[in-house]
Amino acid sequence: MPSACKSARVKIGVIGGTGPAGQAVAVQFAAVGVEAVIGSRTLSRAEEIVAELNEKWRSKDLRLAGGTNETAAEADLVVVATPWDGALGTVAPLAGVLAGKVVVSMLNAITRLGKEMVPLIPPSGSMTAALARALPKSRVVGAFHHLPAGPWGDLDHQLDADVLVCGDDREAVAQVVGLVNGLPGLRGIDAGGLSGATAIEALTPTLLEINRRYKTHASIHLTGIQV
Ligand SMILES: NC(=O)c1ccc[n+]([C@@H]2O[C@H](COP(=O)([O-])OP(=O)(O)OC[C@H]3O[C@@H](n4cnc5c(N)ncnc54)[C@H](OP(=O)(O)O)[C@@H]3O)[C@@H](O)[C@H]2O)c1
Repeated sequence: MPSACKSARVKIGVIGGTGPAGQAVAVQFAAVGVEAVIGSRTLSRAEEIVAELNEKWRSKDLRLAGGTNETAAEADLVVVATPWDGALGTVAPLAGVLAGKVVVSMLNAITRLGKEMVPLIPPSGSMTAALARALPKSRVVGAFHHLPAGPWGDLDHQLDADVLVCGDDREAVAQVVGLVNGLPGLRGIDAGGLSGATAIEALTPTLLEINRRYKTHASIHLTGIQV
């Protein structure tokens, strides 16, 4: 499977890539031979994180680079992995360089209500839709919302999970499903159009609550799909 990723020869940039979610995306792609750029607001932080990851996974020969978020946005396909409330302000100045590209939102708008994590529904219906509005010339797709970054970023641990991919640009969705299928332990599922992102993102705090109650890192796996 990894050869599917390699043969696509895409370079992946991760905006906000220094957090656990962005690092997990970057190392997973880098481990299957895809060049990945970890972006940050601070170049030195990205370089530090890349040095740490290269040291930690020395045997994996990762194709990782560190850069600013602007450098990450220059990649062929770009994942946005900032906190939800910093995302729109981060991508707006990058709209030009992101035009025409597949931009993947893994953003979940979540807050804490008492002890519980609860979803916040943005005015656009989802953060994926908000990103699509902020980047009208980009091909915005939602994916990776439900993957727990801790175990996903551990290259010695393989997840067994489905990744729901949604968006109105059907070719972009198909491309992301293909890339997901090239990652170990993951199955990409075409979950339909952009409007589906509301339910997909809102499911995340439920998974977090399940994790809290069962002291685990749950992810989802659908039954009844033969692919
Ligand atoms: N953590 C998970 O398990 C997980 C799983 C699936 C999806 N997600 C989603 O993925 C996104 C990232 O999650 P995370 O846990 O990795 O987040 P995080 O650690 O809080 O933030 C990621 C990075 O974003 C940058 N950042 C922080 N505040 C920012 C702001 N106001 N504006 C622009 N950049 C900012 C920081 O990098 P620099 O300081 O280096 O710029 C930080 O390292 C979230 O939207 C989350 O809902 C998370």
